[in-house]
Amino acid sequence: MCGIVGMVFKNPFSARDALTSLKRLEYRGYDSFGIADSNGRIQKFVGEIDETKAGDRLVNTTITHTRWATHGNVTEANAHPHTDCTGSIAIVHNGIISNFSEIREEMKAEGHRFASETDSELIAHFFEGKNIADSIPPFFAKFKGEYAVLLIKKGEDAIYAFKRGSPLVLGIAQDGYVLASDIYAFSDRTGNAVFFNEDEFAVVGKNGYEFYKVNGKLEPSEKQVTAFKWMAEETKKDYEHYMMKEIKEIPEASRRLLDSLEAEQRESVESIVSLVRNAKRIVFVASGSSYHASLLGIQFLRRAGVEAHAIVASEFKNFTLIDENTLVVAVSQSGETMDVIEALHGIKARGVKIASLVNVPYSTVQRMSHSHINICAGQEVAVAATKTFVNQVLAMAYIASLLGYAMDMRSVTGVFNSVFAQEARIKDVAKTLATARDIYVLGRGFSYPVAREIALKLKEITYIHAEGMMAGELKHGTLSLIEQGTPVICLAPKGDNDIMSTAHEVAGRGANVIMFSDEARGGIKIDSTGKVSFSVMAAMAGQLLTYYIAREKGLPIDKPRNLAKSVTVK
Ligand code: F6R
Repeated sequence: MCGIVGMVFKNPFSARDALTSLKRLEYRGYDSFGIADSNGRIQKFVGEIDETKAGDRLVNTTITHTRWATHGNVTEANAHPHTDCTGSIAIVHNGIISNFSEIREEMKAEGHRFASETDSELIAHFFEGKNIADSIPPFFAKFKGEYAVLLIKKGEDAIYAFKRGSPLVLGIAQDGYVLASDIYAFSDRTGNAVFFNEDEFAVVGKNGYEFYKVNGKLEPSEKQVTAFKWMAEETKKDYEHYMMKEIKEIPEASRRLLDSLEAEQRESVESIVSLVRNAKRIVFVASGSSYHASLLGIQFLRRAGVEAHAIVASEFKNFTLIDENTLVVAVSQSGETMDVIEALHGIKARGVKIASLVNVPYSTVQRMSHSHINICAGQEVAVAATKTFVNQVLAMAYIASLLGYAMDMRSVTGVFNSVFAQEARIKDVAKTLATARDIYVLGRGFSYPVAREIALKLKEITYIHAEGMMAGELKHGTLSLIEQGTPVICLAPKGDNDIMSTAHEVAGRGANVIMFSDEARGGIKIDSTGKVSFSVMAAMAGQLLTYYIAREKGLPIDKPRNLAKSVTVK
């Protein structure tokens, strides 16, 4: 994962400003961070980004990095930037060099000395003593895997930037340039950007930039400047955590989405609807929460008479046979999830049509799609997907409604606020679950993907093992794990008698059954207007429950251990 930022400006700026821009990418990883400048100074630190650490010294050119560890432990030595043996070249890297072991052995035999255990350090050593531009084609020929790299040379106010696989974008500010993993890093400075394509190289100085396509040699490349609009990053306001702020934003974010789908995104919606109509089947590709939203999407489309499937992105190629009659729908909050991008690369090469639902505009997934919808949730800072999960589900329900699934979207979103009336009750339940070792979440139909989504939230934020299951599957094996006091959350929309039978079965075996139900059955009341609103509201109640359990346990809610918001490695 990792976030990288490079800055080259006409006038000197403070090193602290460089780290402030880097901090905007902290959601990409927060194990360690570092900064190098063109005077040859390098500073590295373990832990979350602290802007004050670089001091207020003035610099003209910097590269910075926030790390999510892949190769090598979380140590200062493994933090970026990395240098060559002479210390005159410094690099930051996002991605993974897959043939790292063989290159390292080769370089070791040539006499290079390594200061870290990382794959990234090899990049600095490769360019040691060489002309950078001349060495780019051989670099691309030799280094396999994914990389977005920023490189500086001591004494030169320029940044060499190149990428394959991992994202990279150039922001054009008034008095200089910012290179970064995504537009968040500079959206406070400029609304103009140049996106790197695959296998591109650029030299960015304080007075201008040049792009080249890397194709065995360097071919000059004409680039378009894209004007972008992005909702400015918001603060936590009065909330203790972003996660709670983002849950509380759900009613507003869902209204914003519907307004946008009916107005400014109408053409995109029509385009996707027509792609769906012309396809024989739909295949969603997504990871994590976005995959769970897609499991609901399948069911909505089925009710509109459309055959749909969902495949987890990292296993996409093993589970599908895609042909030209298939429409692939990529679902991704960040639009930068490497597993999703990899899957899309595979099918794009075969000319298959791609539609997408994304939250971050101008992201790689969006740019790879023939048609896209923005889910308009606004920036989500907490690692856990909350408001974006809900808006993904709503966007899918909206499309299905245009294809014939009879449903009133406004009546669905109109009741979301009522979940917050249950907050005190949810908090009480959370207290009783804080010491749980395992939690089971059971659902059927629309509630099944929600059961999986709640279990995922519980695992990532509360560190409690949780399983979200089809209620009907329990008796085929997992039932043997139910003991006296095992917490089992049952998602029971009105009229679902089968889930009630399952609840009785587990209660009879001593389980601590917690009902999420729209009838007065104890537990947590979901005042829904139907099955679609029930599923979204049960997910919201699960998000609140997760939040309060984690708070009870004193965990780092917005930045759970080992995770990052944007998963840009395979
Ligand atoms: C869970 C969560 C992750 C993401 C997954 C996909 O709360 O946030 O499971 O849903 O990493 O990310 P996107 O949607 O950005 O492709």
